[in-house]
Amino acid sequence: VAGSTEQWSRGGYYDAFMGRWSRRVADDFVTWVAADPGRRWVDVGSGTGALTSAIVTRARPSAVVGIDASTEYVDDARRRLPDPRVRFEVGDAHDLAAHETFDIAVSGLMLNFAADGERVVAAMRRAVAPDGVVAAYVWDYAGRMELLQHFWAAAATLDPSARDLDEAVRFAAWNANRLSTLWHEAGLNEVRTTGIDITCRLRDFDDYWLPFLGGQGPAATYLLSLDEQHRAALRDAVRTRLPMATDGSLRLPASAWAVLGTR
Ligand SMILES: C[S@@+](CC[C@H](N)C(=O)[O-])C[C@H]1O[C@@H](n2cnc3c(N)ncnc32)[C@H](O)[C@@H]1O
Repeated sequence: VAGSTEQWSRGGYYDAFMGRWSRRVADDFVTWVAADPGRRWVDVGSGTGALTSAIVTRARPSAVVGIDASTEYVDDARRRLPDPRVRFEVGDAHDLAAHETFDIAVSGLMLNFAADGERVVAAMRRAVAPDGVVAAYVWDYAGRMELLQHFWAAAATLDPSARDLDEAVRFAAWNANRLSTLWHEAGLNEVRTTGIDITCRLRDFDDYWLPFLGGQGPAATYLLSLDEQHRAALRDAVRTRLPMATDGSLRLPASAWAVLGTR
């Protein structure tokens, strides 16, 4: 899937770039949802299967259906998670198929990318049975998401137009309040939110930088749009900004906002 501002097409590269962190958030999210075993889940915007895999490991589901717009990610997720309880399908989050009903509809790090977040939440609500649960999380882009913030801050010093692409600017409104409002407006009940905090530990600068070259998501898509000279200048500017320890390693906080409600 190639949009003008972000590309989602190479599952291995996504996992090396963001999947390694999203898997950790997914684990904490599934623990927070605290569903009983034996439930039927749908994971909307399932990508390479980070959240689906956390559901399988932590929630003992009877079934999980992962739906994603990217054929390549769906193929990748199928390879990663061959489990008789799990199925991955190509589909659009705005129009979830009406023929299947679930106990729990979830979505990880995806709502902010949808053209119409309200429509996605409405589709998730319709996908669950009465008393079913609808829950999701998004990165706290404008708060603590240093993995991306250092990149975009450096990019803006070299190219002022990069500011319009900065996820902290584009997705500034995606916080606990916004999620809570969306859930209430969709008619969901007993709505609650929480923050999920992780620390991204990186061995060295290459461990931070090389995954951006895989071209997945807005920051890496922007990087690959630059010619070699500008790419090298941005790499040096990012390296200068990063809070590296004396041994060259990095610890960058990353936080997500999560929301849950019942139909
Ligand atoms: C940041 S990735 C998150 C993937 C995964 N949930 C995770 O936590 O690692 C965003 C995903 O949303 C998918 N996506 C974006 N818009 C979509 C839409 N309208 N319908 C279905 N999937 C969509 C992309 O293909 C991509 O896999």
